[in-house]
Amino acid sequence: MITPTGGQPVLYKDYTGELIDWDDFFKKREEHIELMKNGSSIKACEGCLWIREKDWPERKNEFKYILINIWTKCNLKCIYCDTHSNIDVINNTKEYDIIKVLEDMINKKVITPNTKIDIAGGEAALDKNFNGMIELLLNSGIKKINISTNATIYSDVVAKGINKGVISIITSVDSGSEKMFTYIKKVNLWKKTWQNLKKYTSALNPNGNENTVKTKFIIMPGVNDSKEEILNFILYSKKINASGVLLNIDQKWVCEHSDDCKTNLKIIELTKYFMTISTALNIDWTVWAHLEDFILRHNRNFADKAIDIDLIFNKEVNFTIPNERKEILFANFQKLFLPKV
Ligand SMILES: C[S@@+](CC[C@H](N)C(=O)[O-])C[C@H]1O[C@@H](n2cnc3c(N)ncnc32)[C@H](O)[C@@H]1O
Repeated sequence: MITPTGGQPVLYKDYTGELIDWDDFFKKREEHIELMKNGSSIKACEGCLWIREKDWPERKNEFKYILINIWTKCNLKCIYCDTHSNIDVINNTKEYDIIKVLEDMINKKVITPNTKIDIAGGEAALDKNFNGMIELLLNSGIKKINISTNATIYSDVVAKGINKGVISIITSVDSGSEKMFTYIKKVNLWKKTWQNLKKYTSALNPNGNENTVKTKFIIMPGVNDSKEEILNFILYSKKINASGVLLNIDQKWVCEHSDDCKTNLKIIELTKYFMTISTALNIDWTVWAHLEDFILRHNRNFADKAIDIDLIFNKEVNFTIPNERKEILFANFQKLFLPKV
């Protein structure tokens, strides 16, 4: 979460691929936890809206969750992405052998079959060790791996993991048209992206646990904040049999414009539209926690224009749309099935 003081607790800085002393690492984590137990927190977490009073169960020296970000390469230049606005991240991040590091973590039982792994970046699929790393994780018995990938590079190993019911993927398409895709990502790989996503959804195994292939739309105010883009994005996602659609908001915009009430209300309106259309087309939807956080902040800053949070995020609510609108929607949907992606 973004907090006024940063929002990222750090236990080990400037890592360059060396093997880690895990006892020392977990001792530092314990120090952070002790602070929280005493009603205090480390500086980075101060002011976070998500701090809750909860029990702290006894923890083993293992990870419940790991995010592996591979920052060394990307083939798109998404205009909202921090990595590309600060190209030094890609230029200055040195490659190291991630397989050796993960093998050590598996051998030391810091990673266990219960560890949930997220992989993102950069574009992780461009790393020369990517397929080897996925093989290693699949063979180690891990049950849940989620990969944020732009899906422009198809991987048989990922498809195998999807089929096994272990791997889920999320692809940020952020657009409902080739033109908008190319504007946002500065590379025209619109068709390739949907084609590969279709190949991944074909690998979905109905008996595989909760493995999914989901698509994401990041709302960038003033760029793709139109109902048309959102509608077509959902229709394409439906067409390739995506397991669900996700909605988020550009975090950079949020940081710079949190006091823009009019745009906030437009984004909230688009969020409702996204939920209504997804519900009408019977595709699972998720509103990302950042967007939820954004609406909570809007309510705090503009109490007189506050939004009913229970209504907006309650999947049980019947998002009704008039029958004639439904017909237009389904006609569009049928039309979209004719051309091949
Ligand atoms: C940096 S991307 C890279 C991973 C991978 N190449 C991909 O395309 O998904 C990781 C995730 O962060 C999200 N992301 C990047 N910049 C963002 C921003 N300014 N606001 C919200 N989400 C952002 C992307 O949508 C993506 O799902």
